[in-house]
Amino acid sequence: MNNSPIGVFDSGMGGLSVWREIRKALPHETIIYYGDGANCPYGEKPASEVLGYIDSAVRELLSHKTKLIVLACNTATLIAVKYLRQIYDIPFVGMEPAIKPATAATHTGKIGVLATRTSLGSDWFGELSGKYAKGVKIIPAVGEGFVEAVENGTEQSESTRLLVENAVHPLIEAGVDCLVLGCTHYPFLASQIAEAAGSNIRIIDPSPAIARRVASLLDQYDIKADQSHTPEYLFLSAAGADYSARLRKRAMSL
Ligand code: DGL
Repeated sequence: MNNSPIGVFDSGMGGLSVWREIRKALPHETIIYYGDGANCPYGEKPASEVLGYIDSAVRELLSHKTKLIVLACNTATLIAVKYLRQIYDIPFVGMEPAIKPATAATHTGKIGVLATRTSLGSDWFGELSGKYAKGVKIIPAVGEGFVEAVENGTEQSESTRLLVENAVHPLIEAGVDCLVLGCTHYPFLASQIAEAAGSNIRIIDPSPAIARRVASLLDQYDIKADQSHTPEYLFLSAAGADYSARLRKRAMSL
């Protein structure tokens, strides 16, 4: 038993989509969420710069004695997870676009992957595609402006609806029947994506699987919180107190 906190990290608010699933799956765990906010979006910045932001957030989470850290950000995972696992001795859980379940679910043999430019341009994405997508065509698309819309709270605006249509329509026209959300900000646009895609398209968000992975690691390392432990939820940010307060407000409304 271990009542120390789980750390959850993202460039901003997107990782709250993962935070929500972890809280649901593990209701006794104290969770510290760190949303950078000051340097978001990561998906448009050089990896070396982003690695510095991630490392300082991780150090801050470790100063709160976190027992496990979730990189609730696909972009941060591909830039930093291997490095972090080498230098720190707690378990790190990273995101992975849900290509495997999508390849199992597709009937048309074509799946779309929506993610940031950095994620889609990485070797890692290419490796995953090669590993899981035997015989299935993967069509990538950058969710241009999606992260900014979620950060600014403009998910419901007409301009966001158009951004989503611009990203999703070419995928549908290309014949995909599954859409993988490869960025943790995108579940906050799930209803807009579903509307643009139409009712026959399956949308796959890996967050519930990430929460299951966290639960299984807590068991494996024997570091689960006590079943009588009353959890606390803390919100930290490099962007200051107002941003942390926005994170808390948003999280608590999920
Ligand atoms: N939420 C992050 C992800 O999953 C990316 C957002 C960003 O570009 O900062 O990739």
